Parts: sequence; C-alpha cells; structure tokens
Amino acid sequence: MKRRDFLKLSGLVVLTAAASACGGGASSSSPASSADSVRPAASSSETAIVASPSGLPDSGSTENGGRVLVAYFSATGNTAAVAETIAAATSGELFPLEPVTPYTDADLDYNDSSNRTSRERAAASLQNVPLVSTAVEGWDTYDTVFVGYPIWWGGAGWPVNGFVTGNDFTGKRVIPFCTSASSGLGQSGARLADLAGTGNWEEGRRFSSSAGEAEITQWLAELGLA
Ligand SMILES: Cc1cc2nc3c(=O)[nH]c(=O)nc-3n(C[C@H](O)[C@H](O)[C@H](O)COP(=O)(O)O)c2cc1C
Repeated sequence: MKRRDFLKLSGLVVLTAAASACGGGASSSSPASSADSVRPAASSSETAIVASPSGLPDSGSTENGGRVLVAYFSATGNTAAVAETIAAATSGELFPLEPVTPYTDADLDYNDSSNRTSRERAAASLQNVPLVSTAVEGWDTYDTVFVGYPIWWGGAGWPVNGFVTGNDFTGKRVIPFCTSASSGLGQSGARLADLAGTGNWEEGRRFSSSAGEAEITQWLAELGLA
C-alpha cells in the first residue's frame, strides 16, 4: 500500500480496531458479522479449527503437504503478490477469485460512504458477490488449500465467501492468509471456517500490504510446506 493510502486508512483502522479489536467483532455493521448470514454455520463436528502446527502437516496429508491450491481474492494486487509467492514456494496452483463485476478504484474508496463497498458492507445480501468461477478443476486432488483475501473493515473481504461456501473442504488442510494496512487476522479465518462448515482449518496468517518474500517463505517453512 502506498504511504498516501495508509495515511488515509489510519482513521478507518482506528475506528475498526475500537469496534472489533482488528478482527471483525460482534458489531452489527462489521463485514464478518454480516457475512455469517450468507450461509449458516454447518455442524461444528464437520469443521476442525486447529492451531498452526510448528512441525509436519496433519496426518492425512502427504509428507510435503500434497498438492497445494492457492485460492485468493485480491482487489488491488497485494494479496495476489503473497499468493504468487506461496504458490511458487510450494509448487502450488493459483486460483484467483474474480468478481463478475470487478471493483473499480471508486468502489474501493473507503472514504466514500455511498460507494459499492460501503453499500455491500451495510447489507449482508450484497456481500454475496457473484464470482466468475468457484469450481476448481481437479479439486479432489488437492490436499492443502490456502485461502487469501484482503482485510475489509476488520474482516475478510467478502468476495472470498462464494469460494468458501461453494466447495467441500472435507479432508483438506485449509490455511487462511490475508493482507491489510494494519489490522490483524482477527477472527476472519475462523469466520470463514464457520462459513465453509468443512475442512481442517488452521489459524492462518496476516501479512502487511507489502509483505516480503522472506517472511512468507519463513511462515511456509513453519507450516512444513517449504
Ligand atoms: C474497502 C476497504 C476496506 C479496508 N479495510 C481495512 C481495515 O479494516 N484494516 C486494514 O488494516 N486495512 C484495510 N484495508 C486495506 C487493505 O486490507 C489492504 O490494502 C490490502 O493489502 C489490500 O489487498 P488487495 O490489494 O489484495 O486487495 C481496506 C481496504 C479497502 C479497499
């Protein structure tokens, strides 16, 4: 993120932090809270949320994590850059999540309270953003799925929701990651796990908007994937 954008964002982040402790808290206007209504959480018995391991992958994965998919939504390219580094380091496949109607710069201006993202933030029904595709060729062959997104108002940017609700993650290791100006991962990954209702979701990781390759590969090494 450009310094100019960061400064513009600082006021927003302060408000967000106060409302949700940087994690999409229980505020009725938080994106993550609203997103929960897109699809009810499935039985908790189907979804296991486990802490990030410091050693080898969970049993069921192959020694090196098996086939890796890196699915991500990125409006301005920051999350895409992290996704590309993950894919390169893990020999994974990239799966960009593309809204049918792409977001314009005006849509992404969080200082405009009447633009697209502001309207979507305010109405859960508008957060069900149609995607060009959520169907991954050879889905059953992937053991590990990274799910990437930008933080929007303290929670996961909601265009990622359609991918999470549209796939069965049963038996897969699922690792969220996000980029943001300053907010943390918060509850964004856990909320996506609830939305998905299936899969072995891990805690995940937040990166800055300009994350470097070294910290990403270090994280992958800690996950036993690089
Ligand atoms: C609508 C909108 C809301 C945002 N809300 C936050 C926020 O609450 N906290 C934060 O740290 N950054 C926030 N950001 C900044 C993005 O998270 C950050 O620039 C991110 O790296 C963008 O990723 P992308 O380029 O993959 O879209 C927001 C950006 C937009 C467009």
